[in-house]
Amino acid sequence: MALLSIKDLFVGYRTIMGTLHVLDDVNLEINKGEIVGIVGESGSGKSTLGQAIARVLPGNAIASGSIMVDGVNLLELSEKEMENYRGTTVFMILQNPFTSLNPVKTVGYQLMEAARIRMERSGEKYSEDRAYEMAIQALKDLRFPDPEIIMLRYPHQLSGGQIQRVVLAMSLILRPKILIADEPTSALDVTIQAQVINLFKQLSKEMETAILFITHDISLAYVISTRLVVLYAGRIMEDGDIESVIREPMHPYTQGLIAGVPDLSKFVSGKIKLQSIPGNPPSFLDLPSGCKFHPRCPYVKDICKVQEPKLTRVNNRIVRCWLYGG
Ligand SMILES: Nc1ncnc2c1ncn2[C@@H]1O[C@H](COP(=O)(O)OP(=O)(O)OP(=O)(O)O)[C@@H](O)[C@H]1O
Ligand SMILES: [Mg+2]
Repeated sequence: MALLSIKDLFVGYRTIMGTLHVLDDVNLEINKGEIVGIVGESGSGKSTLGQAIARVLPGNAIASGSIMVDGVNLLELSEKEMENYRGTTVFMILQNPFTSLNPVKTVGYQLMEAARIRMERSGEKYSEDRAYEMAIQALKDLRFPDPEIIMLRYPHQLSGGQIQRVVLAMSLILRPKILIADEPTSALDVTIQAQVINLFKQLSKEMETAILFITHDISLAYVISTRLVVLYAGRIMEDGDIESVIREPMHPYTQGLIAGVPDLSKFVSGKIKLQSIPGNPPSFLDLPSGCKFHPRCPYVKDICKVQEPKLTRVNNRIVRCWLYGG
């Protein structure tokens, strides 16, 4: 059975301009130990998807459908019930990691608190010395040269990249079953980025953590992921094993994304020339009829303009496109 099973997820945002129907018909199953890259252009709904799973959507959001973990629909839990799942069942590294930290507590306090939560939920007796040790080790893993000093700092005394690393350290201490990492390396140097990728791979291998790695950078997704999910206008357009999606993208949007990446284009056997997808993603206030990608699609047919294709399994791939029967 899948660790995480999302069925018919819909997320809208209420605004003064009306409700934005952002995520629609999101269906996704994720197994233990999978690292799923979630890619798509800015505004495609990547963070919204992560926030829905972690139940940290903003107040104006409305969600329906189901997000099942261990037989429990997270969407149906009360805020209080959800507290038992936060951190160890599901933990999200937010795109703005500063908001994950308490501004009036030291880094050390917050990392030791994460250690306490992990120990208590795994039935281990809390030990302050052990919590301190775990916090220091996690900071060392994130390449802080002076972890003891960082422990005494408050969040506002850290740089953006340091904040990002502290929240990454917190995720390593918590060892959640499902880790959602929203652009977790955006403020990091390449060497530290490589270290984070290694730590994530180690976490998924040793603890069977399922990781949703949200990024706009498809080459970064390629390096870390075992699977790739492509979002466009809040819809999953393609979902499959990373190697096969990158080598043989089926959806025209995925083909466009890959063709726009210089380093990746060499993987696609010269079939596709480096180019950017013409046009822009649509506004959620004025989504096109039919397939949401049809105004930009080089293969558009009549049916694409009137009817939205459904997610369809084609061999080992899931794709939403009339080229494959819709
Ligand atoms: N609280 C909110 N209220 C209204 N609209 C919102 C809210 N949060 C996000 N949106 C809108 O929902 C859409 C999806 O946003 P989201 O942040 O999920 O995209 P994203 O793929 O993470 O983009 P990026 O790559 O820029 O981080 C966007 O059109 C955004 O403007
Ligand atoms: Mg985002």
